[in-house]
Amino acid sequence: MLLDSGNFSDNPSPQGEIRTRALLEGMQRIGYSVVNVGERDIRLGWEKFATRTRDSGLTFISSNIVDKQTQKPVLPTHQVVDVTSPDGLLKKRVGVVGVVRFNPIFSKPGPTGAPLAIAHPAEPVRQAVAEVRAAGVDLVVLLAAMHRADAARLANDIPGIDFILGSYGGLYTQQPEELDDTVLIYAGNQGKRLGVARVFMADDGRITDYQNRLHLMGNRYPDAPEMLQFVEEALARANAAGRDLKTEMSLQESVALAAGRYTGNQVCASCHAEAYTHWAGTAHAHALETLEKDPQGGGAECRSCHVTALGERGGFTGKQTSPQFASVGCETCHGPGTSHATTPARGYGRVTVASCAGCHTREHSPEFDYYTYLGKVKHQEPIQGSR
Ligand code: HEC
Ligand code: HEC
Ligand code: HEC
Ligand code: HEC
Repeated sequence: MLLDSGNFSDNPSPQGEIRTRALLEGMQRIGYSVVNVGERDIRLGWEKFATRTRDSGLTFISSNIVDKQTQKPVLPTHQVVDVTSPDGLLKKRVGVVGVVRFNPIFSKPGPTGAPLAIAHPAEPVRQAVAEVRAAGVDLVVLLAAMHRADAARLANDIPGIDFILGSYGGLYTQQPEELDDTVLIYAGNQGKRLGVARVFMADDGRITDYQNRLHLMGNRYPDAPEMLQFVEEALARANAAGRDLKTEMSLQESVALAAGRYTGNQVCASCHAEAYTHWAGTAHAHALETLEKDPQGGGAECRSCHVTALGERGGFTGKQTSPQFASVGCETCHGPGTSHATTPARGYGRVTVASCAGCHTREHSPEFDYYTYLGKVKHQEPIQGSR
């Protein structure tokens, strides 16, 4: 039985959508049965999620993605899967429940007109576990797209969960964590590792033992030729879509876009020469060059963090059309600055951890620590009295 604990969606760009659909098709070919839905998968609302997953042949579950008005789940909360032991002799039924990290401010268009919300997980999970238990399953697995501490809390508060298979960024558990009655396992992200759990049961259905291995999907495991071909074709389609996108954006459109709220480093430099000089010496100032040197770095999905305001009104459109927004400029941290540059005043551009978090993600900047990193980007010469 193959399970995915969620956040399978790539970036919401046209190329990203092609890759996500290919991933789902690949999972279906390999034989995945149940897939949990993470916040990443619904962050553009129900319609996009439904389009992306429609023909995948997979079952998607979630106990706490709900209709905001009725608080009713919009997907099946659980799924019962029949499993046969490798020797074909033993048949067991596994109840699989899905849950995503609580997000009280999440609100996106839902299927009915009322928005989607993400409910606090405790009650929805308790209810779904009770339902699968009542259906007489032999084993209950919770797929949890949330941090380990949150998952551990659910394990402690809710009886009857045998395994929690979690996902949270790149987090993986070398040794499964054994709580009271629940085993907690994280297998990392981006398909780097395959987690395999073997469960041993006595005749009366008691779990007597289990084994868990994380297999790093390196060269030790050769590619299946037909899957390799499938993946290469999908990536080629995604890259072609990326090229179409670039040529579609006419010069005129990009000029119109560039007239927006972003202004560019040179304008800031005219009044903040010292900050500019300092910034020019940081890695941010040549982030686009770093990307250009990288053989993988062609696509828009890479550029989003290596330039200024890609995809936003008046932000980066191309190196030729908007050179002032190449690399990670002033306005990535301080925000759009046109009005400040026209009428300078205090209060603009306050920097917090949120200013970095969109780019310094767990995947792309695993070492990121706000205060350590902040020390390296703060300009040395504060404006007199500005703090
Ligand atoms: C026309 C001159 C001018 C331009 C152009 C300008 N600034 Fe300023 N900026 C100022 C002045 C003057 C202050 C200080 C205001 C004060 O201390 O009263 C300031 C303050 C700031 C502050 C500190 C705000 C605070 O509350 O302490 C930041 C950050 C800042 N500017 C960033 C930028 C960025 C980024 C740009 C380009 C998008 C930019 N500035 C463009 C004149 C300018
Ligand atoms: C628009 C995306 C973006 C934002 C916002 C951003 N960064 Fe970065 N940062 C990058 C990229 C990309 C690099 C790598 C640049 C390179 O190596 O060419 C980087 C590199 C760095 C480095 C250098 C790391 C090293 O080892 O040399 C530091 C330090 C850093 N960022 C700190 C911060 C801090 C602190 C913030 C928030 C105040 C921040 N960054 C906001 C994209 C961003
Ligand atoms: C979510 C934002 C984000 C995206 C998307 C992103 N990067 Fe980065 N990248 C960063 C940040 C932040 C750093 C700096 C990391 C650090 O020093 O902590 C960085 C650093 C780098 C570096 C220099 C350091 C290194 O690891 O060698 C390269 C090269 C790079 N990125 C290539 C890429 C490529 C290729 C892609 C697309 C596949 C990509 N990036 C997509 C944020 C991003
Ligand atoms: C990686 C994020 C980042 C980038 C990019 C960045 N700054 Fe800053 N800037 C900061 C931080 C952090 C502070 C410190 C103020 C604070 O703690 O809020 C700051 C402060 C300032 C201030 C207030 C005075 C001071 O020195 O503390 C000015 C002015 C300023 N920046 C201008 C610029 C200009 C101009 C650029 C582009 C050339 C730029 N910044 C690029 C992070 C950034």
